[in-house]
This record gives sequence, structure tokens and C-alpha cells, in this order.
Amino acid sequence: KIIASAAIRGAHAIVSRAEERLKEAIDAKGPDEPVAFPNTGYYLPVIYALSGHKVEKLSDMEKPLALARDMLGEIPTDSLWLPYLGQTLDSGISTLFAQEIMQGVRYVIGPSPVHGIYLGAADDAIMRQRGVEFVDGSAPGFAAVVGAAPDNETAVKIARELQQKSLYVFMAGSTNGVCFADQLAEEGVQLGWDTRLVPFDNEVHGQVYSLGFAARAAMSFGGVKPGDFKNILKYNKQRIFAFVIALGEVDDEKYATAAGAISYGFPTIADTDIPEILPTGVCTYEHVVSSIPHDKIVQKAIEVRGLKVTVTEIPIPLSYGPAFEGERVRKDDLFAECGGRKSTCCELLRMREMEEVEDGRIEVVGPDIDELEPVGVLPLAIVVDVAGRKMQKDFEPILERQFHHLINSAEGIMHMGQRDISWIRISRQAREKGFKLSHIGDILHAKLLSDFPSIADKVQVTLYTEEDKVNEILQEARTLYNERDERLAGLKDESVDTFYSCSLCQSFAPNHVCVITPERLGLCGAYNWLDGQASYEIDPSGPNKPVAKGEVIDQHKGEWQGVNEFISQASKGNLERLKAYSILEDPMTSCGCFECIVALLPAANGVMVVDRDFSGMTPSGMTFSTLAGMVGGGIQTPGFLGVGKFYLGSDKFISAEGGFKRLVWMPSHLKERLRNMLQAQAEKVGEPDMLDKIADETVATTEMEVLEYLEKVGHPALGMDPMM
Ligand code: SF4
Ligand code: NI
Ligand code: NI
Repeated sequence: KIIASAAIRGAHAIVSRAEERLKEAIDAKGPDEPVAFPNTGYYLPVIYALSGHKVEKLSDMEKPLALARDMLGEIPTDSLWLPYLGQTLDSGISTLFAQEIMQGVRYVIGPSPVHGIYLGAADDAIMRQRGVEFVDGSAPGFAAVVGAAPDNETAVKIARELQQKSLYVFMAGSTNGVCFADQLAEEGVQLGWDTRLVPFDNEVHGQVYSLGFAARAAMSFGGVKPGDFKNILKYNKQRIFAFVIALGEVDDEKYATAAGAISYGFPTIADTDIPEILPTGVCTYEHVVSSIPHDKIVQKAIEVRGLKVTVTEIPIPLSYGPAFEGERVRKDDLFAECGGRKSTCCELLRMREMEEVEDGRIEVVGPDIDELEPVGVLPLAIVVDVAGRKMQKDFEPILERQFHHLINSAEGIMHMGQRDISWIRISRQAREKGFKLSHIGDILHAKLLSDFPSIADKVQVTLYTEEDKVNEILQEARTLYNERDERLAGLKDESVDTFYSCSLCQSFAPNHVCVITPERLGLCGAYNWLDGQASYEIDPSGPNKPVAKGEVIDQHKGEWQGVNEFISQASKGNLERLKAYSILEDPMTSCGCFECIVALLPAANGVMVVDRDFSGMTPSGMTFSTLAGMVGGGIQTPGFLGVGKFYLGSDKFISAEGGFKRLVWMPSHLKERLRNMLQAQAEKVGEPDMLDKIADETVATTEMEVLEYLEKVGHPALGMDPMM
């Protein structure tokens, strides 16, 4: 009852402030001044998601703000009992609308939402990249932290605990002028998207970015239509595991913000005494839980929100979890390194017979880092021997590829690259806590056993740090790397009778399924055909299933009876046919994880491709963000494809429409990054100088400019059959 009146009172205050701010902005800049969060196709995302209303200029804010005003309940007097939560929730939504408008106004007349350590709104590239982690389960959800802990030490403890549980931490709002994010920054904790500790704003209104993040996930991954507020809220409640942690005294505006979060299905857990608002039994969990001590608050939040978080204990003296993957070890913090340009560093995972492996044996042959002075350099070869009743040679590269994130997940340890170009940096802080190279062995042993229980029965790790021995291993490793590469390169779609599906993204994009063929990897770029095969054998009930091609319907366009039957069932009847090599007819669908988007440019008789790192305008007339909004959500959109970047170098890249020679525009940085692969393909199709003929943003940003460029350089697409 008290929170109800406080939340409604807070909402009134926030809406009034938003009205003043909007007036101020219009007086200063005029009603037609454009307004947008940076690089997003979702406008002001909460407003867009819930009402379908697009805010593009200041005057567009008037309607949603009026709606927010309408939805505000009467401020109840203390004697008034609110029998339903309805009014409180409505005023929660009013609050979110008003807060989003205030943030939007700040992007126009200031003060800038990006200031000091604060990042402001996340753009769509970040949202998608991070969304993938919500999809594959490497991030179970997010915690929206409001206010500040009583002291810095407590703040760091709470943050580390959330990180160890792999949660994202979205921070906004302060207690007595102090913010949680400031407390972490003062203690030297690395903040930012890479460490999952995201400082949005020092005002509580900045928490609206968290809700906007969730709303965009519903639209881009869940395919929920803007304005379909029921399904937006349902999606968030069912699929986004989020909660609010309120630290310190809760004032009216914080109550109002909490009510906004509750309307999304996100409960609030507080360290202070907050009265319950709800008649119990309305929901599957409590909306507000109060007076929780700081050492229990994270655990309580996880329980209340019903999150399943499994943490494997790793016997090392450092914190461990995916949230530590993104940490950098900078030069000034460096204690020792292996690889990079400083020394040889390679890694190798080998299948061995049961009797050849002694489970848990970790051996360092040569000096360990405790014998070094900073900054020390060591050569390193990591050899992991795995035995298991179901282990196969084909699984070696898949397990070996895990080393990167497994080693990187230790706090203060950085791992880059793979195979013979790996590079490990160990920080002074990690060394001070007692970290040694042998702990890399402990990590790999514990995680390979726990992550791959059905194939790894025994794991032993040997770390060589003597030059001679490292070079010897390097020779052996290179021979094996080559054998593996040849095996994948030799695989053609025609030479197998089974493809693999991937439905990992269905947790987020319920109607999407990837069909992975030897010559077309998953659109997220993370899974190829061999991975699909291995993953199915490792876990037959997992996200990858074999798809028998069955009768060939059209070899040229890539249509098979068995695949059609599979996708119609896997998409619950939403899709009937798939033509795997076509962009125009029954093309593959997308979730939201695509590395690149391919789009038809009819006038240029070809296609363009753009990756998520390119935020400028493309010749299709749309930015990556806008394109992504059209392509995602598990629906077929002829003329558009979400793809993994290596598909561009495949013989089956839109081969139904003529393939690689159709490529007419791509961002210059993408061309550079993929140059070797693209050049090989250009030579294969008999156009060795084609790379220079592909336009980029430096020569063309409109379809007409692309066409002019193609004519000037004589691009082969112009001589091909009309695409449309
Ligand atoms: Fe998602 Fe497809 Fe990647 Fe699987 S292969 S994780 S379904 S994008
Ligand atoms: Ni509820
Ligand atoms: Ni996906």
C-alpha cells in the first residue's frame, strides 16, 4: 500500500519533470529537431515496443508523454487501499515513458548521457552481440542495480558475486549522491560491456536503458511486433531473467522506477525495509523483497527470479566466470606473458586411450611464473590429453577451441588467439593472489570434465615452458592443424546426406532455426557443420539435430524434401520451404545473431553486405540496425539474408543467383578483414581483380553511386542476368 502510493507519487513527479524538459528542448531547438538514441533501429525502445510509436523528432514525444500522463493514477491518500496492482503498474509504465523521454531530451540539449564513466544507451550492435550471450546461456540474465552500497568493499563484493554468476549488471541511480558504479570505479574494478558491469547513468532515470535493452531483445530476437505490448511484456517476463537490486534508501522516484520494472516482470530485491505491495498469490514470485543483508542479496534475487545458475568450482586462487572474459590486462598491470610477438605459444588437444591418461595430472615442464621477475616472458605449449569412451578425433578441435574462453574467464588472465598464435597475459594482481601456470591446467581439467561430461572421462594437462620442448610440440601441433583444415575444406554439401540444425536461438527467437551445411555455417559464425555433428553426438537431446536431406527438389537452389519437412516442424508450421542457396526465394531465416546482413541492390544487379561494426548508412538506404530489425525474428524476408561472415567465401554463397560475382558493396574494414578468403574466391570464379571492383563506403553510399562505380570499374555483376 505504501509503495503503491509512493510509486504513483514518484510517477507524477517524473512525468511533470519530463513535460518541463520537453518544453525546454522544444523552446531551444524547435519541434522538428531530430531525436534518437545512438545507432538504433528501435527509436526510443520502451515507447516503441509498448505503443508502436516512433519518436524521431521532439514533437513526436508529445503523444507518448500525454499517454504517460493519462495512465497516471490518482495519488492515493494513506487511508486509501489499492486493491489491484493495476494502477501502480500503469504508473510504472508512465514512469518508463517519461524517463525515456528525459533521456532522449538529454541527447538533444544535454547534459549528455555519456559522461565520465557513464555510457548512456547501448546501440543495437551491442544489444545483438550481448543478446547472443543471453541466447546461448552464457549470460543467464541481468541485474539492474539502483543506488549504492553502504561502502565500497560491499559494492565490490556484490559486483563480483553477480559477475561470478555470469549476470550482466546495469547500474543507474545513486544513494546520497553516491553511485554503485562510482564505488566500483574507485576500487579499480574494470567497468564496461566487456566485463558485464555496465554503468548507464548516475540518475535513476538511466535504468530505463535496461528496460529498453530488454524491449529490443523482444523485438529483434523474439520477433514481437512493436506496439504488441502484451507480448512484449510476456516475452520479457518469460525469457529475460532480470531483477532490480535496490541499495540504500528508496525514495518516491525509485519506487516508481521499481514499479516500471515490475510491470516487465522483474522483481525488486532491496537491502532496506520496503513494504510489500501485493496481495500474495497473484504471481509466481514476490515482486518486492526487502531487508535482505548484503551477503545474501544476490542469492535471494536469483531464487526469487527463479534463475538456474550453475557454477563449477575451479581450484584456482582467482574469481572465475564468463564475466571476466572481457577484462584486459594492460601493460602497466602485466606480470608475465606467453606468446604474442614475445615468444612461441601454442595449444593442442589430443585424443588418447584411457590407459594413456591419468585424470587430474597437471604438470609444468620447465619454469613456472613464480620463478620470474616482472615483466617475465615464457614460451609455452599447452598440451591437453583427453580420453573418454565416447571421445572421437573429430572432437579435438571443438574442445581445443574452448581454451580461449576457459582461460580468459579467470580474473586477471587474458587469452587471445588460438592454435599456434595464442597469447596469454597474466596480471600482477593475479600473481599476487598466487596464480601460476599450473592453474591453467586446473582450469582446463575442471571445465572440460564439467562442460563435456559425456565425452571427456579423463583429462591431463602438460604445460611446457622450455624452448626446445615447445618447438617440438609446435611441429606436432602444426601437422594436426593441417589435417583438420583439410578435412573441413574437403567437405561439400553434395558429399554428405545429412545437415545439422541449430535451435539454440529458439530460447530467444522461438520460430528461428538454422540449417547448417558443410558449405554454410550458422549465421552467428560460431557453429559449422562439424560442430553440429560433434554437438549432436555429445548431446543428442541438445540444440543440434541431424537433418536428412532426403530427395533433392532443386540442387541449384538448394532445396531438399527432408530439409523442408524439418523446418516446417521446427518452426511450428511458420515455414514450409527453404532454398539454402537463394536470397530471393524462400531464403534462410534469422534470429538476431547474424555477423553480417546481405541485401539485394536491384539497380546494381547485385548484393551488398554489411557487418555489425559498420554504423554508417549503406546503399540499401538503411543502416545495419534498421536492416537487422527487418531481417530478424525468424521470418523469411526475400532480398535479405543474415549470414556468418565465412559464408561469403563459400561456393554456395547465394549460388542460386550467381554467387560471389554478385557482391557489389561492402564496408572497407570488412573487405580488409576477409581479404585472403575473398581474394581466393575471386580467383576461383575467374575474376582475380574483383576485390577492387567491389565498392565500399569511401566511393559509394547510395545505390546510384554504387552503380556508377560498377560501371566505371567494369564489375562482373553488370554483365549477369537481371536479378529481379
Ligand atoms: Fe543461433 Fe543459428 Fe548460431 Fe545456432 S547457429 S546459435 S541458431 S545463430
Ligand atoms: Ni506480477
Ligand atoms: Ni541467434
